[in-house]
Amino acid sequence: MGYALARAAAVHGHEVILVSGPVSLEVPKGVERKAVVSAKEMYEAVEAHVDGLEMAIHSAAVADYRPKEVHAQKFKKSASEWTLTLERTADILGSMREPFGFRGYLVGFAAETENLLENARGKLERKGCDLVIANDVSRADIGFDQRENEVSLLFKDGRQQSLPKAGKQDLADELLSIIVADKQFHE
Ligand code: CTP
Repeated sequence: MGYALARAAAVHGHEVILVSGPVSLEVPKGVERKAVVSAKEMYEAVEAHVDGLEMAIHSAAVADYRPKEVHAQKFKKSASEWTLTLERTADILGSMREPFGFRGYLVGFAAETENLLENARGKLERKGCDLVIANDVSRADIGFDQRENEVSLLFKDGRQQSLPKAGKQDLADELLSIIVADKQFHE
């Protein structure tokens, strides 16, 4: 969805910076890509671009945890069991308002397997978003690694809108129009 949204925005004449983890997708024409390989690198790349940004759309499925200990060499097996300790990564979207100080239009995604709208509304409020795009990731036919998606939009003012299942590029084009219209309406 991130690549489809970046493409839609570039086609509409916006200046687009796409901060992306390693994927096998082609970078859309006119889009400047910043390649990152970890949640920490994505956090730093986003923070570095907040100044002068009008709108930020956070569609990445960022890891919430990372291994606490990283070995420089191959880890040789010994015991029959091994407990791996994970630590939390920083929440990039949740850092946009504070500490990054972003004042523009903020869009988040919510990937949920239950209580879709309720959980998505909670994320909108907690992370200071203007809009959250909610995705039911329990469905195998849409979302991650699929060509199609079906989403519900939750706006800050309480409005809600569901879009029918569609190809990701068509959906991204429609989402971008809705997002730009809502942003302009609130300016
Ligand atoms: N997100 C982020 N940084 C993270 C985790 C998530 O910026 N470390 C962003 C995602 O890009 C998305 C939004 O936060 O826009 C919601 O992500 P999601 O995975 O649905 O939820 P979490 O915030 O991880 O919350 P939970 O694990 O409780 O569902």
